[in-house]
Amino acid sequence: MNQENQLRNQIIVIDKEVTWDKTQVIMSKTNAFGIIEYANEVFVDVSGYEDYELMGQPHNMIRHPDMPKVIFKVLWENLKAGKNFHAIVKNLAKSGRYYWVVTDFEIAKDENGVIVNYFGRRQAVPQEVISLHIEPLYKKLLQIEAASGVEFGEKYLIGFLEEKKRTYVEYIKELIYEHEKAQSKFAQYEEQDNEEEEERGFFRRLFNR
Ligand SMILES: Cc1cc2nc3c(=O)[nH]c(=O)nc-3n(C[C@H](O)[C@H](O)[C@H](O)COP(=O)(O)O)c2cc1C
Repeated sequence: MNQENQLRNQIIVIDKEVTWDKTQVIMSKTNAFGIIEYANEVFVDVSGYEDYELMGQPHNMIRHPDMPKVIFKVLWENLKAGKNFHAIVKNLAKSGRYYWVVTDFEIAKDENGVIVNYFGRRQAVPQEVISLHIEPLYKKLLQIEAASGVEFGEKYLIGFLEEKKRTYVEYIKELIYEHEKAQSKFAQYEEQDNEEEEERGFFRRLFNR
């Protein structure tokens, strides 16, 4: 058993949310293999780990058992291809509590174009988006993975998104956007139409970059 498993196995999962300042951005930096090299203060505060417990550890030390594997499969396929990816993720704090986030990545390459670092930024997700849409979907994916493996979890996710005529990123963007629109945030943004540029613009705006 490696150190990461030893750490995580001591955690008793608790069905309670971490209390945190949801205006903040949780940031971490890893090497090309997802080993943590830096985490900001917000990461430390929300996850409940000290810096010395995080550095040198695989990023899956905050993986929550409620997360379907297929989401990380698609996430890594994108990251390894040098593409940003936005996912809604339930994370596990050291206390056993959870916190939901939406991700944004930056990928650093060396002069030969080889990936050397990933920067992950995370923001809070509106509770309604989680409880009405993401939790039911992830529960289903988790059950399918348990019964028939990640391959069929992925097939279900593909079918689900095909029916909605959306990619995963378009789907979660729309969920968050619709919620923000209802709260009348991003008012001037409503003018734009629904294309790839708008999607990039939406997440850039969400993450203030
Ligand atoms: C920069 C970066 C940030 C990541 N952030 C998270 C995160 O917040 N939560 C998480 O569960 N996985 C995160 N991951 C993915 C993990 O590396 C890992 O794939 C995931 O926890 C699932 O674990 P597994 O790959 O061992 O199945 C991140 C990866 C990178 C490269």
